[in-house]
Amino acid sequence: MEILGIDIGGSGIKGAPVNVTTGELLAERYRLETPQPSTPAAVVATVAEVVQHFNWKGPIGCTFPAVVKQGVVYSAANVDESWIGTNGQKLITQQTNCPVILLNDADAAGMAEMALGAGRGQSGVVIMITFGTGIGSAIFCNGVLLPNTEFGHLVIRGRDAEDRASDRVRQEALLKWKKWARRVNEYLGHMERLFSPDLFIIGGGVSKKHEKFLPLLTTKAAVVSAQMLNEAGIIGAAIAAKPLLA
Ligand code: BGC
Repeated sequence: MEILGIDIGGSGIKGAPVNVTTGELLAERYRLETPQPSTPAAVVATVAEVVQHFNWKGPIGCTFPAVVKQGVVYSAANVDESWIGTNGQKLITQQTNCPVILLNDADAAGMAEMALGAGRGQSGVVIMITFGTGIGSAIFCNGVLLPNTEFGHLVIRGRDAEDRASDRVRQEALLKWKKWARRVNEYLGHMERLFSPDLFIIGGGVSKKHEKFLPLLTTKAAVVSAQMLNEAGIIGAAIAAKPLLA
């Protein structure tokens, strides 16, 4: 029950073999910088390097930071625009000679948290939001995912939410935690008015520093940090690829 999980992000491409029953990483995570420009050929070559690093020959679950349907990429907010219309799943399969499932990064992270982390056993409406280069979203109703929700692009004060409240913006604009948390509260408040969730799970790179901002969040719904921190993408990608084992 081992699958190689790979998480393609706007800044890094990370992977590790995962025990998909326990969610345990079976080797130390390997990370390479995302090539710039992040064209399909350059990104797929980097993914292949990660696969080679583990000398991997089995199934692969891989995330991508965009809308992905049946392996085809339909958006490109934080990657090169030439990805739009590209069948990323097919390209990675051809390059690695391994069976591959490609899916949205936040959907993968959410699947990992629902199966083995902060959302385990949670019924009702759970919303996972990842704060990284962009803002990713995954919504579950009684454990079932509604894929490709893209709520990082909700418009707030005339701008994409992720251009105001992503972790990249926090770092680039040198925002203090209090100021960033105000933006996050405004964003989560919008989400709350639209979806009345029972639980928010906060993931992405910033979840490592949850003690800095979680106490500043003021949603009515419970809000918790992702338990798998930044590894949820790798673990969720591997879990999503379980059908390849059959
Ligand atoms: C993309 C999403 C992605 C999120 C997090 C957004 O810009 O549109 O597909 O999940 O960033 O990477």
